[in-house]
Amino acid sequence: MFFKKQKKAKEKIQIDDRLKHIAFIMDGNGRWAQMRGMPREFGHSNGAATFKKIGRYCESIGLKYMTVYAFSTENWKRPQKEVDTIMKIFDEYIDQCFREMQEDNVHIRFIGNLTVFSEALREKMARIDRETSNKSFVLNIAINYGGREEILHACNELIREGKSKITEADINRCIYTTGCPDPDLVVRTGGDLRISNFLLWQSAYTEYYFTDVLWPDYSSRDVDEAIASFYSRKRRYGGV
Ligand code: IPE
Ligand code: IPE
Ligand code: MG
Repeated sequence: MFFKKQKKAKEKIQIDDRLKHIAFIMDGNGRWAQMRGMPREFGHSNGAATFKKIGRYCESIGLKYMTVYAFSTENWKRPQKEVDTIMKIFDEYIDQCFREMQEDNVHIRFIGNLTVFSEALREKMARIDRETSNKSFVLNIAINYGGREEILHACNELIREGKSKITEADINRCIYTTGCPDPDLVVRTGGDLRISNFLLWQSAYTEYYFTDVLWPDYSSRDVDEAIASFYSRKRRYGGV
């Protein structure tokens, strides 16, 4: 007798309250494309597809907050053609969010210095944020984001308020991620072992996970691996 060998459906990983927020440094798009003899831009469009897939997966396993590093304050140094392509992909993504924002269970927020973007784009981002604010899965998209810029922005905001002495709570209120718990886990793809100006204030006690997988190849199984590593660790926060 023959039994058709059935591919077992992947069992969903279990998470609990210890893991509410994962942040991703989505790195390796350029190398992924170059390895295929393609221009770096090809990597960015494939990376955008991976971002949507990983977002859906993280929501499906019950994660509450996800942050993605899409474009840093330093990424403007890249060749104009590459920057233009990334901004075009971003524009298209915003338009898609705008059209479909009520379909998913996602509160989309944009974090970073958004003042560099056009009034029209900023208005769209603000509306997407506002009109999805009743959804339970929070997705922060970091664009023109830098951790140092964010801290300076918060300090300048507090100076404007007339403060002469500031507290951690004041900074927490004025950073772009305000309202989100600090990331429990930061994952960086692409093999580099650095944080590249990402969530400097928020990651004081974050766990880090680095993988050589290039972002366009990143899969739900890779997310599971990072989560398993997270749960194998003991967070002491300076205690014993
Ligand atoms: C990350 O991939 C995406 C952005 C920084 C916008 P890269 O473009 O940095 O890809 P690599 O690291 O050069 O391979
Ligand atoms: C970090 O990647 C920024 C994003 C993923 C958006 P980079 O590719 O810019 O980082 P470095 O230059 O290797 O540190
Ligand atoms: Mg890179």
